[in-house]
Amino acid sequence: MNERSQWGTRLGFLLAAIGSAVGLGNIWRFPATAYENGGGAFFIPYLFALLTAGIPILIMEFTIGNKYRSSAPRSFSKISKGMEWIGWWQVLISFVISTYYPIIIAWSLMFAYYSFGTKWGADTSSFFFNDFLSMTDPGSFGSIVPNVLIPLLIVWTIVFFIMGKGVKKGIEIANRIFIPTLMIIFLIIVICAVTLPGALEGLNAFFEPNWESIMDGSVWVAAYGQIFFSLSIAFAIMITYSSYLPKKSDITNNAFITGFANSSFELLAGIGVFAILGFMALQSGSSIDEVVTSGVGLAFVVFPEIISQMPASSLFGILFFVSLFLAGISSMISITETYIAGVQEKFSLSRGKAILFGAGLSFIISLFYATQGGLVLLDTVDYFINNYGVALAGLFEVVAIAWFARILKDLQNHADGQSAIKLGWWWRLSIGVITPVVLGYMMLQNLRNDLE
Ligand code: PFF
Ligand code: NA
Repeated sequence: MNERSQWGTRLGFLLAAIGSAVGLGNIWRFPATAYENGGGAFFIPYLFALLTAGIPILIMEFTIGNKYRSSAPRSFSKISKGMEWIGWWQVLISFVISTYYPIIIAWSLMFAYYSFGTKWGADTSSFFFNDFLSMTDPGSFGSIVPNVLIPLLIVWTIVFFIMGKGVKKGIEIANRIFIPTLMIIFLIIVICAVTLPGALEGLNAFFEPNWESIMDGSVWVAAYGQIFFSLSIAFAIMITYSSYLPKKSDITNNAFITGFANSSFELLAGIGVFAILGFMALQSGSSIDEVVTSGVGLAFVVFPEIISQMPASSLFGILFFVSLFLAGISSMISITETYIAGVQEKFSLSRGKAILFGAGLSFIISLFYATQGGLVLLDTVDYFINNYGVALAGLFEVVAIAWFARILKDLQNHADGQSAIKLGWWWRLSIGVITPVVLGYMMLQNLRNDLE
């Protein structure tokens, strides 16, 4: 038997877990979600969700990984034979995400390159949707080869290289470099952003509380949804990463650190994004409401437009897109590890073979998103994964563990035995009752909206 791979240091594990959590969701999802769901008042449901679902589930997943020391499918099968499929469901979600996530990372890389001399020109929307995605832009590699192909190959090369080096020499070292770099770059961005004219108006709009929103169920659903996505829970990721922890590890403390680090980054991103949106509103004479967006549109249409108007625009563009790249690639590594570990254990493969088959298949599928129809395909898949895949996976997970296997008390003893922070009834209540109720309600709401 081979020794199970293990993190070299506690900091290495923490940086990897934070690297998985901190991603595009923090930068392009959180700011607009908070703004649209009550602004300053959103922090109440958000903190509530963090403390009743985010951190409790993180503790649970870290404990499962640390106790069973296996990939997600095998961990679940050790809990109960009939539960292995829950692990595979989570692994499948991760795999699907891993087929389109690299496309966005590749776009970021390409836009970092376009930042030299702000090559996107004046009409950034037309540049992104027409020129860039349809392969006729000035930097194009020819009309048959999609623009994204070369950066996509670069991204996959990096992913294969890091995965090939293993947990300690690959994933840990990569995150030790990527995450501190990301923090520094992002801090520079935010400091520049808040000194821009108009920044204050942007921040006022972001933090202004709409207290009535707290009474709205959909605001609470948005808060829980953000927490789930943002903390990478129910993706099989955190179980896999914690399975490489040394036997005696302070899990509870690690979960609090990961949760608060991710939320701090989220808050920082909200401040940076809204300061910049405030600047844009001032430049274009519009209201904040008119310029708020999220996702692909924010990163690749609105931001390029703003960057062009900023002092030192090329430099600022590079910093912004490099930070998107770093945030994305550290999350990408984490999802790739989940199915590599799952497949490797299930079929007793070498790590090399598991990487070749698992990531190889994902690589091939990712090429389809590189085509012109890619964005539509990406949006559709992303929508179903986020609205049903993750919520269902989380629901199966907590119900199986709290109500079928009934091992919450065992897990609690395991975590409490290695931490100064003791879990109490609030932890079991969060996992056993609050989270399943909220996730069930979330599923029904999404279904109702879709059927309307
Ligand atoms: N937690 C990441 C974020 O907030 O951006 C999201 C993420 C999605 C991580 C998908 C990993 C992943 F596979
Ligand atoms: Na996140």
